[in-house]
Amino acid sequence: MRFGYFDDANREYVIETPKTPYPWINYLGNESFFGLISNTSGGYCFYKDARLRRVTRYRYNNIPVDNGGRYFYINDNGDVWTPGWMPVRKDLDAYECRHGLGYTKIRGERNGLSVSQLSFVPLKFDGEVHQLTIKNKSNGEKHFKLFSFIEWCLWNAWDDMTNFQRNFSTGEVEVEGSAIYHKTEYRERRNHYAFYWANTPVDGFDTDREAFIGLYNGFDCPQAVLAGQATNSIAHGWQPIASHYFDLTLKAGEEKTIIFVLGYVENPEEEKWESLNVINKKRAKAMQEQFKSPDQVDKAMQELRAYWDELLSVYVLKSDDDKLNRMVNIWNPYQCMVTFNMSRSASYFESGIGRGMGFRDSNQDLLGFVHQIPERARERILDIAATQFEDGGCYHQYQPLTKKGNHDIGGGFNDDPLWLILATAAYIKETGDYSILDEQVPFDCNPNNTATLLEHLTRSFYHVVNNLGPHGLPLIGRADWNDCLNLNCFSTTPDESFQTYGDPNGRVAESIFIAGMFVFIGPEYSALLRYKGRNEEADKADKLIEEMKQKIYEHGYDGEWFLRAYDAFGRKIGSKENEEGQIFIEPQGMCVMAGIGVENGYAIKALDAVKERLETPYGIVLNDPPYQRYDKSKGEITSYPPGYKENAGVFCHNNPWIICAETVVGRGTRAFELYKKITPSYLQDISDLHKTEPYVYSQMVAGKAAARPGEAKNSWLTGTAAWTFTAISQWILGIQPDYNGLRINPCIPADWKGYTVRRKFRGATYNITISNPNHVEKGVKSITVDGKEISGNILPVFNDGKEHDVQVVMG
Ligand code: BGC
Ligand code: NOJ
Repeated sequence: MRFGYFDDANREYVIETPKTPYPWINYLGNESFFGLISNTSGGYCFYKDARLRRVTRYRYNNIPVDNGGRYFYINDNGDVWTPGWMPVRKDLDAYECRHGLGYTKIRGERNGLSVSQLSFVPLKFDGEVHQLTIKNKSNGEKHFKLFSFIEWCLWNAWDDMTNFQRNFSTGEVEVEGSAIYHKTEYRERRNHYAFYWANTPVDGFDTDREAFIGLYNGFDCPQAVLAGQATNSIAHGWQPIASHYFDLTLKAGEEKTIIFVLGYVENPEEEKWESLNVINKKRAKAMQEQFKSPDQVDKAMQELRAYWDELLSVYVLKSDDDKLNRMVNIWNPYQCMVTFNMSRSASYFESGIGRGMGFRDSNQDLLGFVHQIPERARERILDIAATQFEDGGCYHQYQPLTKKGNHDIGGGFNDDPLWLILATAAYIKETGDYSILDEQVPFDCNPNNTATLLEHLTRSFYHVVNNLGPHGLPLIGRADWNDCLNLNCFSTTPDESFQTYGDPNGRVAESIFIAGMFVFIGPEYSALLRYKGRNEEADKADKLIEEMKQKIYEHGYDGEWFLRAYDAFGRKIGSKENEEGQIFIEPQGMCVMAGIGVENGYAIKALDAVKERLETPYGIVLNDPPYQRYDKSKGEITSYPPGYKENAGVFCHNNPWIICAETVVGRGTRAFELYKKITPSYLQDISDLHKTEPYVYSQMVAGKAAARPGEAKNSWLTGTAAWTFTAISQWILGIQPDYNGLRINPCIPADWKGYTVRRKFRGATYNITISNPNHVEKGVKSITVDGKEISGNILPVFNDGKEHDVQVVMG
């Protein structure tokens, strides 16, 4: 069953009922100020950091689940309703929500009044704009009341939901005309305040929650709205809110537009105050000036549109498959931008207070984002690298506001360092900008202890080499990519974190996954050394990589597939000798992507084992059989009920590794089949089962052992976004940025006739037509560029600002 449809021309997903199987959300904002908004206008916003600068309050795990947001209440002669349906839940005569790129439009209609809400964060603007257009569609005049509503968060989201003994006394506001200012803690160390402003004179306002909602009422029946009258309350402590009140009359057919701006302002210390305890509103007023009229809103929307036109013009696919086109051209890159911005911090499944930017997550997110805004990718690489330690290890997470490593979680995740090499290589392949390697980057965020980025990559590479276990395979530390495979943890007490408990320095437990990564990513490191003319070091690196490969053949293969690990007692994990967890997906994907086993048939066997043992109609599960009981020698993976998360859920992030691996062995039909299984545009018709948004990937889909196989969770913030984009755009469609040009290497379903890709790359545009007259899955017979046949399959770098015609014939 579906709940909406794709409007590709407008790049929108159109939701036709507020009662989606779960709140279906969107993200507003591109750089500093961000909002999450659901199809019923729920959600919240923050400046840069969802934990430390939360602007509006949101209660996770609420009843009903999505309660709290930017609400607009109508009181039409006693008939109270909300155009987004929530929170009043009065039946609507018409409803539609359009989630677009960086904006959301919600329209609700009842008894002849139609209310359209357009919500977005303009480019380079630290605030949300909400434009409300109300139209009287009835035959007579309508007289009604309109109330806006948001609830302020007292900035630090963690403190805000725990420290009530203090917080109920600190809240402060100011009201001036149609602007409500939130200035809690501004009197002391904060240099920031927020405001909620309307471009139209108000007939009243409220800033105290109890005055507006009532102590015993809910969001669904605020007493001021029921009374049809604001109380002009001023909050002193308790819970500050902002609500504008308008008494409106519209003639038949008449329409009125009101613009609201919800903004965030920082003032330098010496400009904080206007007079004693009166905040300096200069910057806020300048922001308000920018959105006084609908023309200004239109212009800002056009700019936003143009911004996305530009970003999405870098890779444009034309194929016969609409579901594929819309993922490659619109939704997948969009989700890549969101994951790049948010890492795993704020979604409807991530509370915004638990985690900052993940080291491995951000490096992988970059793979799907780097072609969009390479400059931001560059900055990110340097930020991430600065959280690395001198020995090559690194903080597992860092805080986006401070960019400092997170001490609570620390380091010891032994896959982390290698991802930095992969991200740096991806950046250089996209841009040709080798200068990044010479940047001085701190260790442990200490500006007095720096080294070049290339030196950081050396530390990454040798962190693996210097930490090998009894079989010569990499030690796993706290965990590798699979955060829940905690082989050195041995936790028996509830509440101990699997991620931080135990000794990460165990010298026995080894990871075949990291070994595969080393062989996959290591060659990038040696290629960079060669570019720098450091051939001896590159030879040495290549030798170490080759040795690792041999170790995998010797100790990392189980006869039909790659082993997963050795535990702290040297026992095999992911082996046919095990009763449970006989086979894991991750090493099959990573090892074959690295080319391991292609020469001796191991690779094909491993991928066939994946098909036979792990594949389900909804994707490939992580392991099988699932663990049935908790085992402290394996850690968190065995804490999950069978079929969920890392214990045999379809953990979508690693599915694209198998997709890529299938292209390595030349099986394009198979690769694309697997792509379709997890790609949301193909799952629209089972939205009732799938539950999460049909326009973005989810982290996890319940596996075959679960109660409801196919049910997804954790939508939006997942490495699946970057990896599926990489898998489809580079490994299947075969347009691969490389150090010396654009490599053309498609691996597609045999029945495809062909497709075109328009790719902007290093200052030129390549119009690439791929035809497949002989219906092969892989192999390029000829390539002509601007009419001349080239040898090899790498398109040269033109950097001439021109369009180039590229004809590729497969065969
Ligand atoms: C989840 C993992 C996650 C880890 C760290 C675990 O509970 O299952 O997916 O990476 O926590 O936050
Ligand atoms: C989610 C985490 O963000 C990611 O870093 C990890 O690799 C996966 N879970 C698998 O455990």
